[in-house]
Order: sequence, then structure tokens, then C-alpha cells
Amino acid sequence: MPEPTTPQKPKTRVLTGDTPTGRLHLGHFVGSIERRLAMQHQHECFFLLANMHAFTTRWDKPDEIRADTIEIVKDWLSCGIDPSLAHVVLQTEVPAIAELSWFFAMLIPFNRVMSNPTIKTEIDAKGLGDSYPFGFPLYSVGQCADILAFRPAFVPVGEDQVPHIEMCRFVAGKFNQVYCAVNNRTPEDDHVKAGGVFPIPKAKVGRVARLPGIDGTHKMSKSLGNAIFLSDPPKEVQKKINRIFTGRQSATEPGDVNNALMQFVDAFIPQERAAELKDRYARGDNLGDGHIKQELAEAINALLEPMRARRAEYDKPGRTGDDTVIDIIRRGTARANEVAEETLWMAKEAMRLGFFRRGLTTA
Ligand code: TRP
Repeated sequence: MPEPTTPQKPKTRVLTGDTPTGRLHLGHFVGSIERRLAMQHQHECFFLLANMHAFTTRWDKPDEIRADTIEIVKDWLSCGIDPSLAHVVLQTEVPAIAELSWFFAMLIPFNRVMSNPTIKTEIDAKGLGDSYPFGFPLYSVGQCADILAFRPAFVPVGEDQVPHIEMCRFVAGKFNQVYCAVNNRTPEDDHVKAGGVFPIPKAKVGRVARLPGIDGTHKMSKSLGNAIFLSDPPKEVQKKINRIFTGRQSATEPGDVNNALMQFVDAFIPQERAAELKDRYARGDNLGDGHIKQELAEAINALLEPMRARRAEYDKPGRTGDDTVIDIIRRGTARANEVAEETLWMAKEAMRLGFFRRGLTTA
């Protein structure tokens, strides 16, 4: 007799994404990717390739964006994102995202977009001045749609993304109030029960909110040239770690346990050993920076080794890894469109736009 099957509770959904801008680095890993690896076993995860967003600052570099899109999937896969568990989604092939962006754009005050701290910081950091395209601030509205198209419970992100998630939560609540008659005093966790289309999603910030770069001051970032990439070879990792500046003169000089080197120790060396190192460092107990850097590079290389091995599979000549990657994207996006089309229909019905249902064919 076959085992009686208990009906499975549908899994909660998780959505997050990356803008393809080049290779991923250690800051991405401890800030967000690591979290995704755990979540893919517990939830239905959608990992979005925000390729449209890449055009907001690099509209004139379509070839680069395409290459970066493939590259980031290889980074994800080498980290252990498993396409049999999680869906890899191509933003530009989920039309519901673009359509929902329009609807949401009506619910978000223009000033709120322009005072979004992440948008402001990016305008500064990327030197966009006042000549950025209209599409640049618009991406933050688009990001609300990226998320809400999947009606997820959680959005695992780095700290810098929290203002975007706040805006997304705002727009979800507003939509539910305006079109679904949800009361403005309804607790956020009860919006769906009260008839709202959108659950109010929660940000899940990673284990290390801010990893410094090897310059020791700024946040690790590709554009600042202070990053250790997940695909760096072992020697390169050691070389970069050796460059972390501490200003310390000798092994007996008491060190600052909050400096960049020690933040790396905290992020990559097991807790107990890290505590011991920090204690000795603080006391100037004959522990030179060089020793710490060696131990640190070994720990990081041990973390990266399985990633290098998995990546090598996709970079093999012959059957190109790119074909494999595109198959993965195609499958993930097909599932994404099932959910996103359903969401769009629900939203349209709520907005009295439910005239007739359309179908969407997928390659
Ligand atoms: N803006 C995010 C970044 O630059 C990428 C992103 C796009 C995203 N859409 C998203 C993150 C939706 C979380 C959820 O890193």
C-alpha cells in the first residue's frame, strides 16, 4: 500500500536579486548570498537577475550587461545556489514586473522616490551628478514590483537595500488599502487575511551588514577597487589580504579590535578562534598582522575552494557553460511567470482592470 500523503502546506516564497554589474565579491557573500543558500532549502526561492536595472546606469553597454548577466549566474551556482531548489529569474522576461511598476508608480509620491537614501547615495557614489536618466530613480519603483510580483514573505538583502524594502512595504500596504479595502490599522501580518493582494514582506539582512574593502575604510565594492572576488585565485586572495592596512608597527603593539583586519577575522574565522585572536591582538600578545593575514587568507581560500571547483565545471570549453546557464534561466523564469501572472491578475481584479484574462507563452 502506498504511504498516505499528507497535503503539503505551500512553501512561503522568498525573492531577492542582484543587478549584474560584474563578478560577486566576499561582501556579497556574507551580506546576502550565504543567507540564500540556507533559505533555498526552506522556502520557494526566486533569485532575480535585475538586468533591466543594469541599463539604468549602463544603457550604452548592452554587451557588457549580457556578459555580466551570465557571469552572475555562474557566481550564484558556484556559491551553491541549486537550480533544482531555487528559481533563477530573468527580469526582462517577466512582463508582469514592468506592468506592476506602472501601477505602483501611482501610489508612491515622487518626493519619496527622490529622497530614498539608497538612490541618493548611489547618485553620489557613482558620480551621476544631475544628468542621470529618468529610469534611474524609477528602478526603485521597479524593485517594489520585482518583489511584490512574487508576494514573498521574506527578502534577504544587504543593509544598503533596506530603504528599497521599506518603500516596497509602503506600496504593498497602500495598494491593499486603496484597492482591497484593507483598514489602515490592520497589523501588517494580517493584510492578506483582511483581503489584501500583497503580504507586507520583511527584509532579512545578512550576517555581516557591512564588510570593509581591503583599503580598510570603504565598504567592499567592485567600483572602488577594494574587493576580493569569489573567483579570485588563491594567490590573489593572499596578496589582497596582505594589503589590508592597519597602521600597526609590531606584534607587541596593542591593536584595534575594530579595525578592518579584525572585521575580516570576525567574518571568516570560526567564532571561538576569532575571539582568541582578538583577545591577543588587543593585548599586543606577540601576534603580528602577518600571521593573522596568513590564517585569514587560508580560511577564505578554504571557503572559496569548493566554489572554484564548481565554477570550473561551467567554464569548461566545449559545451559552453553559457548554454547550461541559459537553460537554468529559462526554467526558473517559466516558474516565475506562473506566480507573477497570477499576482498581476489579482492586482488587476482589485483595480477593476480584470476585463479578461490573458495567457502567456514561454519558450
Ligand atoms: N537593487 C538590488 C541591488 O543592486 C538588486 C535588486 C533588484 C533586488 N531587484 C531586487 C534586491 C529585488 C532585492 C529584491 O543589489
